Amino acid sequence: MRKKIVAGNWKMNTPLQEGIELAKSVNNLLRTTNIGDVVVILAPPFTHITEIVKVLDKNIVSVSSQNCASEHKGAYTGEISAEMVKSTGAKYAIIGHSERRTYYKEDNLTLNKKVKLALENNLIPIFCIGELLEERKANNHFNIVKNQLEEGLFNLVSEEFSKIIIAYEPVWAIGTGEVATPEQAQEMHKYIRDLINQKYNSQIADDTTILYGGSCKPSNAKELFENPDVDGGLIGGASLKAEDFLGIITAF
Ligand code: PGA
Repeated sequence: MRKKIVAGNWKMNTPLQEGIELAKSVNNLLRTTNIGDVVVILAPPFTHITEIVKVLDKNIVSVSSQNCASEHKGAYTGEISAEMVKSTGAKYAIIGHSERRTYYKEDNLTLNKKVKLALENNLIPIFCIGELLEERKANNHFNIVKNQLEEGLFNLVSEEFSKIIIAYEPVWAIGTGEVATPEQAQEMHKYIRDLINQKYNSQIADDTTILYGGSCKPSNAKELFENPDVDGGLIGGASLKAEDFLGIITAF
């Protein structure tokens, strides 16, 4: 069944001690707040995961990595494998964030390898897609997103695909304060769901959780989450303050 999810992507922020405090604050706020059936995920830096898993109530908050390697194991200095991520107690792995695509030149084929390794290691991929500003201006945004899905995910068999969470993050909205309008988000989320329907089937399309990401805040989360095809958010900046993050979690 499709889930409502709010995931906090901390990116390269917080030294370990601060990260632990932030995780504890989120956990404590959630202990005393009725959030219904919303699934909450924190994605701290790799270095923090083991410690953060220890301070969270597993039934309230889960942990994700922000990335994983495209190779299984071996001589890849500086890389962290999906198997290692899994062994820390994390349940999810963000894959294909636009910052990875842009700064580290990760292409759809590399990301597809990461998705497969995450799945093999029982991690749930949160697969990010989204267009650049110039691509939207050129009215090419649907093609870009379609290509990211086709090359990044659509060689998975149904059983594998049905585990995937998708995050639509228009790159022009990430960290810019400029949020997609609810209409823009709904339009693209519906388009993504239609493509999944065409490739797989209507049941899988209906069950796929599609998150919105890009300058989502407590003040705009409700109007985004109200849309029928927006199932929650992948939150950057606003996930670094426990109260703001809670404001988004309670916006459904
Ligand atoms: P933002 O980042 O909320 O700071 O715009 C979103 C993301 O990159 O996942």
